[in-house]
Amino acid sequence: MKKITIAIDGYSSSGKSSMAKALAHSIGYRYIDSGAMYRAVTLYAMRNGMILPDGSVDVNALINDLPEINVDFKIEDGRQITLLNGENVEMEIRQLPVSNNVSLVAAIPAVRHYLVERQQAFGRDKGIVMDGRDIGTTVFPDAELKIFVNASAETRALRRVKELSEKGQQVSYEEVLANVVKRDHIDETREESPLRRANDAIDLDNSSMTVDQQNEWLMNLYNSRVN
Ligand code: CDP
Repeated sequence: MKKITIAIDGYSSSGKSSMAKALAHSIGYRYIDSGAMYRAVTLYAMRNGMILPDGSVDVNALINDLPEINVDFKIEDGRQITLLNGENVEMEIRQLPVSNNVSLVAAIPAVRHYLVERQQAFGRDKGIVMDGRDIGTTVFPDAELKIFVNASAETRALRRVKELSEKGQQVSYEEVLANVVKRDHIDETREESPLRRANDAIDLDNSSMTVDQQNEWLMNLYNSRVN
């Protein structure tokens, strides 16, 4: 069967990673979480004092270090984990301190160029499902299947609270909702490849869908594209 490229974009905590992962697993494709790459670079900036006391980013220092920041993935116990210069940072990049800084780091054009190049290299041979904000517009504008996922901010915040609490992190709904809304705003209004639906993307509002229902919806769509 021919291999295609699948781009899944959408708002934060919209469930796109779960559906992307499930599809990749079912059809034997590689899954790449582009958000994890922005999160790993953000963690690097935080650890190296590049988030300044006023909350802004020391852009020049970060750009200077970019060639030394290697973000990669590996499978461990059947789960994909994110590596920052070889270190497993999977847990740390999902926590709120990183979530609170990531959209500012992701708005820096040089950071985007650096990571987009890496993402395109991951997808060179097709057979890939990648999720993010600009996959269908900038990373793989020629992707054969593009999905744009949305759900209400409240639904997304509830899902994220549940997901974090399942991982043992207790956070308040209000705090998460504020983070989701703020990131949406920064992601949509930045100059460099903002969060935007590709013209040829298929919309999915999964506010009232179960995980199984959305996985089935995506699988059917995939089958209709490759058969
Ligand atoms: O998991 P969640 O939906 O909260 O976000 P994520 O996919 O882990 O992405 C974290 C952040 O990285 C987003 O809020 C964006 O600011 C940025 N991002 C981006 O700018 N472009 C991408 N392709 C992926 C993520």
